[in-house]
Amino acid sequence: MSAEETAPYGTGPGAAAPVKRVRTHHLREMKERGEKFTMLTAYEQYAAQTFDEAGIEVLLVGDSASNNVFANETSLPVTVDELIPLVRAVTRSAHRALVVADLPFGSYQASPEQAYLTAVRFMKEANAHAVKLEGGLEMAPQVRKLTEGGIPVMAHVGFTPQSEHNLGGYRVQGRGDAAKLVLEQAQAMEEAGAFAIVMEMVPGDVAAEVTASLGIPTIGIGAGPSCDAQVLVWQDAFGLRTGRMARFVKQYADVHGVLLKAAEDYASDVKAGTFPGPEHTF
Ligand code: KIV
Repeated sequence: MSAEETAPYGTGPGAAAPVKRVRTHHLREMKERGEKFTMLTAYEQYAAQTFDEAGIEVLLVGDSASNNVFANETSLPVTVDELIPLVRAVTRSAHRALVVADLPFGSYQASPEQAYLTAVRFMKEANAHAVKLEGGLEMAPQVRKLTEGGIPVMAHVGFTPQSEHNLGGYRVQGRGDAAKLVLEQAQAMEEAGAFAIVMEMVPGDVAAEVTASLGIPTIGIGAGPSCDAQVLVWQDAFGLRTGRMARFVKQYADVHGVLLKAAEDYASDVKAGTFPGPEHTF
């Protein structure tokens, strides 16, 4: 391993950036130093390159591609075969970020063996650096099998979109007595070997308690400011998607507006005969 590879990652005290590739141990070290990190979804080349250039530490090729790329209503229909080319594009494009492939609904729940075989496809065919799966105590055997087989696992507790029909729709998880369950799920994932845990739509005080009780980093989405990291779906955060947004989304840009204006200007130039001009013509 080169000195660059072993140097602590990040910008805080004790860190010696840059590193060649963000590794799972860098994220844990950042938590230990109290330094936050970021994750964004990415599903293709240019977004992946841009977010990598911006210093986003983790890129998640989420099963949210189902509703953000493939135009499904939920994350349930997307398949392993549909996600693999997206993961491959992102791993080819990101030179520094850790790239995590989401295991889609039905591709890992049946058994640890099924989970392992699916995860291996993402590692071999798409060069993923890690995989993510949803669930708590019941997923501990899957997480153990994958990590023992050399595959880093990011867990996902709280609201888990693949179970939305079971959970009664998009609802905050872990309120009142249910807080204990979120804590138990997160602890079970850490014990089973997960290197990080996404916590989705969990009250901020519960997420803070979970974060304080774990050695591995928590990555919040709708889980308040105490998590060690944050994640957002990029089309929501940067305004490519329009319409109603979840309360936890902050919009940093209006990409839809920029694209709409560009497409309208292009169409009007073509119709007016002002594009292509002499400078665009051979
Ligand atoms: O698929 C996804 O985008 C996710 C994030 C919301 C964490 O799981």
